[in-house]
Amino acid sequence: MPHDFMPGLAGIPAAKSAVSDVDGERGVLEYRGIRVEELCKRSSFLETTYLLLFGRLPDEATLNKWQQDIIHHRRVKYSIIDLMKCLPEQGHPMDALQAAVAALGMYYPGRNVQDFDNNYWSAVRLVAKLPTIVAAWARLRRGDDAIPPRDELGFSDNFFYMLTETIPPPVWADIFDDCLILHAEHTMNASTFTGLVTASTLADPYTVVASSIGALKGPLHGGANEEVVQMLKDIGSADQARHYVEEQVRKKKKLMGFGHRVYKVKDPRATILQNLCDTLFKTCGTSPLYSIALAVEQAAGETLHGKAVYPNVDFYSGIIYDKMGIDTDLFTPIFAMARVSGWLAHWLEQLRENKLFRPDQIYAGEHNRPYVPVDQRR
Ligand code: CMC
Repeated sequence: MPHDFMPGLAGIPAAKSAVSDVDGERGVLEYRGIRVEELCKRSSFLETTYLLLFGRLPDEATLNKWQQDIIHHRRVKYSIIDLMKCLPEQGHPMDALQAAVAALGMYYPGRNVQDFDNNYWSAVRLVAKLPTIVAAWARLRRGDDAIPPRDELGFSDNFFYMLTETIPPPVWADIFDDCLILHAEHTMNASTFTGLVTASTLADPYTVVASSIGALKGPLHGGANEEVVQMLKDIGSADQARHYVEEQVRKKKKLMGFGHRVYKVKDPRATILQNLCDTLFKTCGTSPLYSIALAVEQAAGETLHGKAVYPNVDFYSGIIYDKMGIDTDLFTPIFAMARVSGWLAHWLEQLRENKLFRPDQIYAGEHNRPYVPVDQRR
């Protein structure tokens, strides 16, 4: 059989999907055919999750039911909290999230993935419970009690409440909701693909999401948002940006929050997030990281000229979360809280025509080597 090996499977379609689409030349991202700019302006995160999962905007009654279903499943069992209390507090929150999500699968009937009703409630539980787990871990590791969700609060307000025991200004909740919309889905990225490989074995959705969380953690994927904030802090001031960028490029190192396999122009999510920074700073003053970020973007544009390397979704999101007082190592778990809807949308789609992922390889080793006994090996 002829093989065209593409490292990283670049450009190789792994699925047919109607969940989302990226036009990397024009910088357009659509969820179920609707542009993300439109969704940020007119939708909410929860409505967007419904759109992604079920392929259509819900009517009013369906939306209300979806929101109520999520509210009623936000709580996590006390034994999940107990489990997290046993984890080392210096551990990364993505590891705590992955462990807790894998453990959720031991409580809920998710194994029969051919049962739509089961799958609906699995999706509800996962979208509803991830924020509770993320917020609980953020508190437990400091020795504080986890705060249970409050039913009358919307998705973003409730997350801030569980994290800080305070309700944020309305404009913060709106901005955070938009951030979640922008992180909810992005075609066949590494974490979605990972989840689909796991799902193709007909594993339960908690295992699927736990494997996606593992893939999202790495710095080339969702982990980049943490690294961006660290990079901006290391640069220290806007006037150091050009020197830093030139040095990185000279050393052939990557600028975190830049570049994308698909976008050959600026990621549309980065543009929206930049506008959200401006809106946020009107309410609470600017962030010193922002002026450094702008200087890095300009220097990168000039230094990497011709390479089609522009800011991606991870470049400006961390600046927003940092200004809202959120710990840097929670940025990727927040990404996961949003992306779980995209992962599950692909999972539901794949289940309709599932085929086990079992790619090929090009064997590059030797054949017919003799077995050498241990006392004769050099
Ligand atoms: N900084 C400097 N140069 C870069 C960067 C960057 N961030 N990204 C790509 N390039 C250059 C790279 O050096 C290479 O140049 P050359 O052809 O001269 O060797 C060229 O552009 C192609 O790069 P690549 O690494 O082969 O491209 P890729 O499609 O394999 O990588 C990427 C995509 C996202 C892994 C890469 O751009 C990267 O490592 N970026 C930094 C990490 C990051 O921000 N990740 C978040 C990705 S978007 C959100 C998400 O998925 O979570």
